[in-house]
Amino acid sequence: MTLYGVGLGPGDDGLITVRGREILADADVVYTPGRLSRSVATEHVPESRIGEVDFPMTRDEAELRRAWKAAASEIAPRARDGTAAFVTLGDPNVYSTFGHLRRTLDAFHPDVAVQMVPGVSAVTAFTTALGVEVTAGASLTLREAARGAAPTGPDRMVLFKVTDAPATHEGLTDAGYDVTYGRRLYMDAGETIVTDDPTEIAERDYYTLAYAERRDLDTDAPATAAFTGADDSAVTDGGERAAGSVTTEERATAESCGDEPPEGSA
Ligand SMILES: C[S@@+](CC[C@H](N)C(=O)[O-])C[C@H]1O[C@@H](n2cnc3c(N)ncnc32)[C@H](O)[C@@H]1O
Repeated sequence: MTLYGVGLGPGDDGLITVRGREILADADVVYTPGRLSRSVATEHVPESRIGEVDFPMTRDEAELRRAWKAAASEIAPRARDGTAAFVTLGDPNVYSTFGHLRRTLDAFHPDVAVQMVPGVSAVTAFTTALGVEVTAGASLTLREAARGAAPTGPDRMVLFKVTDAPATHEGLTDAGYDVTYGRRLYMDAGETIVTDDPTEIAERDYYTLAYAERRDLDTDAPATAAFTGADDSAVTDGGERAAGSVTTEERATAESCGDEPPEGSA
C-alpha cells in the first residue's frame, strides 16, 4: 500500500504532528535510521512493530548505495503488503536520510507509493529554543559547519553539524558574527544546552547547531518594536506582565507575518 516518511520533530515526543502520530499508530512496521530516532519512535510504537534495517556509519558512497539498496529491498514488500513508516528526526525533507530511501525506492521499486508527513525541523525549532525572532522580510540561510568549519557570507545562518564549536566560533566571531549554540534541543530533560560560550560545548555532540548573525546588521525594526522597553507612561489594561508570556509585540509581528491574516484581507 504505502510507505510513509514521517518527521518525528526535534526529539520531544510531544512535538510530533497529530498526523505523524496517527500514521505510526496504524503502521504495520516502523523503520528507524538510528538509535535516537528509535528511542523517540518507541514513545509512540511498541518495540514489536519496529523493523530492522542496517545503516553503516560510512562516507563511502558505494557502500552507502549497497546499504540503501538492501534497506529498500527489506522495506518495499512490507509497504506493498500493508502500511510501513520510516521515521526521521526533524523533517524528512531537511538534511535527512529519507531522501536516500525515496530515491532508491524510485529506482528499484517504483510501484511502492510514498507519502511524506512533515515534522518540526531543527531549522525552525531553534528559534523558540534560542529565543530568536526571524522577523518578516529577514533572510535566513542553512549551512553545515562540521569539523570546525565557519561558513560566512549571509546575514543570518543556521549551522548544522557543529562538531568543533570552539574552532567554528573563532572563525565566525573573527568574521563579524554573534553566535549562539543549541545542543540537544527538545531532547531529554537535562540534556539541552543553549549557550554563547563554545567552551561549554567543546566536547563533540552531533546534535548541536548554531545561529550566527552579523554583528553590524542594520535592519528595519517592525512597527511594534517601538513598544519594547516602553516607559512607565505606557497604558496597560492594568494587568501585570506575565513572565514568559507572549508579548503584544510578538503577537502583532506574528499576525503581520501571515500566521493569521488581518481581518478583511483575502
Ligand atoms: C542530518 S541533520 C537532520 C536535520 C533534521 N532532518 C531536521 O529537520 O531537523 C542533523 C543536524 O541537525 C541539527 N539538529 C537536529 N536536531 C537537533 C536538536 N534537537 N538539537 C540541536 N540540533 C539538532 C544538528 O546540527 C545535527 O547535526
